[in-house]
Amino acid sequence: MNTLLELTTKLALFVTILFACRFLWNYLRSPLKSFPGPNLASFTNIWRMRDVAKGRCDITHNNLHRRYGPAVRMGPNVLSLSDPDLISLVYNTKNPWLKSNMYNVNDVVVGGVRLKNLFSNQNESWHSTYIRPVKNLYSMSKVQDAESNIDITIKLLCEKLRARFVRPGKTCEMSDWINFFAWDTMSQVTFSKDLGILDAGSDYKGFLRRSTQTLDYFAPICQIPLLDYLFDKNPIMRIGPPTFIWANMFSLEQLHRRYQEGNHDGDFLSKFLQLKQKNPELVDDNTIIIWLLSNVLAGSDSTAGTMCATIYYVLKDPGVCQRLCEELRSANLSSPAQWKEIKALKYLEAVMRESMRINPGVGLMLERIVPKGGLTLPDGRFVPEGTTVGMSPWVINRNETVFGADTQEFIPERWLQSPGETEEAYQARFSKMKSTDFTFGAGSRACLGRYLSQLESFKLIATLFNTFDMALPSHDHEWQLTNSWFIRQKGIPVHLVERK
Ligand code: HEM
Repeated sequence: MNTLLELTTKLALFVTILFACRFLWNYLRSPLKSFPGPNLASFTNIWRMRDVAKGRCDITHNNLHRRYGPAVRMGPNVLSLSDPDLISLVYNTKNPWLKSNMYNVNDVVVGGVRLKNLFSNQNESWHSTYIRPVKNLYSMSKVQDAESNIDITIKLLCEKLRARFVRPGKTCEMSDWINFFAWDTMSQVTFSKDLGILDAGSDYKGFLRRSTQTLDYFAPICQIPLLDYLFDKNPIMRIGPPTFIWANMFSLEQLHRRYQEGNHDGDFLSKFLQLKQKNPELVDDNTIIIWLLSNVLAGSDSTAGTMCATIYYVLKDPGVCQRLCEELRSANLSSPAQWKEIKALKYLEAVMRESMRINPGVGLMLERIVPKGGLTLPDGRFVPEGTTVGMSPWVINRNETVFGADTQEFIPERWLQSPGETEEAYQARFSKMKSTDFTFGAGSRACLGRYLSQLESFKLIATLFNTFDMALPSHDHEWQLTNSWFIRQKGIPVHLVERK
């Protein structure tokens, strides 16, 4: 017994000394030594993992950049960058910088095989092989094929809001219902079948709960991806919390069901199957699962976040709400609002752009590896190859040089021509804001589903504000946000009345 205790103590001492040497090495020898940042960042990533786990690392990131400037040391080998002029380099399309290991945490292991998806795969040539056949299906003109399916869930949401909240005069927790809507919509456009969440008025199948749990695992663990080998990808025994495997299983079930029922037109799955029929040598069922996962994993929470933010910010500002409603009313919209009726509505576009700017759906740094040759920053400092660098949408979208003053405030007017501003000056300012907006990332790995998300959110917001008079308990009402890769909102209690 004594020998065992002695052995354990010696082992613990050895591991401690090993870690201490590693920390010291990080501190003394790192080529990033001259970059400022929190003291702990020179030694370890543990502090940033803990910060992410607390749920508002976006606040930390903004505070750090305010204090230390455009390049902040976040870990022994990690820098956060905030200069928008670097976007086109770090996230370039021609010679894409590799995604960091943080994305591996998103893989799932089935039967000992590690399955990657479009989002998680670091290999650029694998990525371009698998994304090429479907990229066009997500263009603005092609996603409009999904409009009738989106209309089905918008109608369903409006019916449910009437029955549960408008008629009984009850307050609706909008963050719940918008999430129900987003999940049902993504399933409807992908499989021509909703998940029954709006109908049940609850997360009865546990999709939202499981997604939240997996994101609450992904966000902190991807700050130290090595830990994922201990918790989830442990070859001896999995210890970790639930991972994204439920999404793979769900996609597989839907694919099998479609094979049994026969293919039919009108949703993403049918288009994927048509691609398989045309290119059997390139597309098999595994490829289809990879494509389905994009919709299932990336499309719901993200778009729900944008729609929640828009409702919250518009209702907090009576002037914005009135101007938006007037524009919608004078457009004589159908119900649900159709894309062709709303796509040119300037104020609606300004409101949506501003919601995404101030509350971008993704809240962590999008990490990349500095390639051979290193990176020279605009101020002359050198970042060696192999360093992990990243930018956060929550930092970039608050840049005052590009977006103007008060970037913490919701001001849709910043996207419109100001009184006295020449057309030329406005166009230059607008296109600088548009190209800097980092909500959907940038470059070869930018969001695949941005136009689908845009179609869904523009249509829903136009329909809701055109159909109901909505109000928060007060204009000072504050919501609660959690940053867990995607941003989750809670506390949007809305009183709804049918608009006359
Ligand atoms: C407002 C809603 C959305 C936001 C804010 C958003 C945001 C993002 C961001 C920031 C990235 C880049 C990640 C990185 O570089 O690390 C991304 C990638 C991605 N998004 Fe979205 N997204 C949204 C909606 C959607 C939808 C509806 C889909 C459905 C198809 C989708 C599918 C994807 C995929 C597949 C990727 C990986 C792309 C690649 O690596 O090539 N997203 N998204």
